[in-house]
Amino acid sequence: MDFIDLKTQYRKYKQDIDQAIQRVLDSSQYVMGREVREVEAALAEFVGVKHCITASSGTDTLTMSMMALDIGEGDEVITSPFTFISTVETISHLRAKPVFVDIDPRTYNLDVDQIESVITPKTKAIMPVSLFGQVPDLQRINEIAAKYDLPVIEDAAQSFGATLHGKRSCGLTTIGSTSFFPAKPLGCYGDGGALFTDDDQIAETLKIIRVHGGLQRDHYIRLGMNARFDTIQAAVILAKLPHFEEELRLRSHIGRHYTEMLKEHCQTPYIPEGYTSNYAIYTIQVPNRDQMAAHLKERGIPAPVYYPVPAYSQPVFKKLGLDKAHFPVTEKVCDEIISLPMHPWLTESDQEFIVESVIEAASVTA
Ligand SMILES: Cc1ncc(COP(=O)(O)O)c(C=O)c1O
Repeated sequence: MDFIDLKTQYRKYKQDIDQAIQRVLDSSQYVMGREVREVEAALAEFVGVKHCITASSGTDTLTMSMMALDIGEGDEVITSPFTFISTVETISHLRAKPVFVDIDPRTYNLDVDQIESVITPKTKAIMPVSLFGQVPDLQRINEIAAKYDLPVIEDAAQSFGATLHGKRSCGLTTIGSTSFFPAKPLGCYGDGGALFTDDDQIAETLKIIRVHGGLQRDHYIRLGMNARFDTIQAAVILAKLPHFEEELRLRSHIGRHYTEMLKEHCQTPYIPEGYTSNYAIYTIQVPNRDQMAAHLKERGIPAPVYYPVPAYSQPVFKKLGLDKAHFPVTEKVCDEIISLPMHPWLTESDQEFIVESVIEAASVTA
């Protein structure tokens, strides 16, 4: 059994994907070719924003978004400590300071009530993470940001396709940043990512940053990076995008089925009214996680832990000197969460087997 089944997905769309890649090979425009422009138009339309700027990874898009907002040394960026390391790593790369607030115990996203208490004159952005496939309360986050005149960057690496009151993740904030890492709900066949914005000036700046700080040959107007998207990866996304809505529907069906079967036995994902999740990572919370993990492993069910260690406790960020006592929810969640296989083609019998195994382990460990 696979945690994420990319082989079945490839088999299903093989003809389209192979042809799309072949077209790029025939054109020999391997970097920033025609498909890159086509996929940017298609993705901007899907999200419902004016601009999409593709890039080399979901990590680079976070860096680019902060560079475009001139975030640098001494600036503070408010974010979540319960996330993949990229979120925090990119802030530190720019010599800015990650400022953490604890998470909501049900959604695992930023606890919005705590944001205002950490805003200082040095705060330059709020960077909420849409963890496991669902956006935080971005309406309230945007209201707080507007009050202090701050931009909001959504780290939407995991939430592409999710919605809040019908509007897509990536299109709800000043800048939305996503990843096309193969394991993401919309993945390419290597590294890739994209930025979304309605702001013309920010879009232009992002395009400049993407190619070494200058759009004209031999003329560089600001510090940039090499963050271009490969044309072959754009072609893969173009071939997959027409199937994405159907995949979201299948994921949602499986996610809701899991929840229906498991909600009496453990804490299941909480999707408030008005929100949809893409169920990028279906995560449950149990008091004795390690026993659950051992039991699932024994039964051949892949069940990784995203994430066992909060960012502030990672050796690289120990120097921030943060006291874990400030983050009781994050501490508890890191000890108790475990994720279950999730992909659009998870068979009913596999789902039943997983559910039975989780219930069995939950009753033993309760
Ligand atoms: C929350 C979050 N942010 C950023 C990233 C970085 O994306 P990439 O792997 O494309 O650099 C990831 C990818 O795993 C992620 O999950």
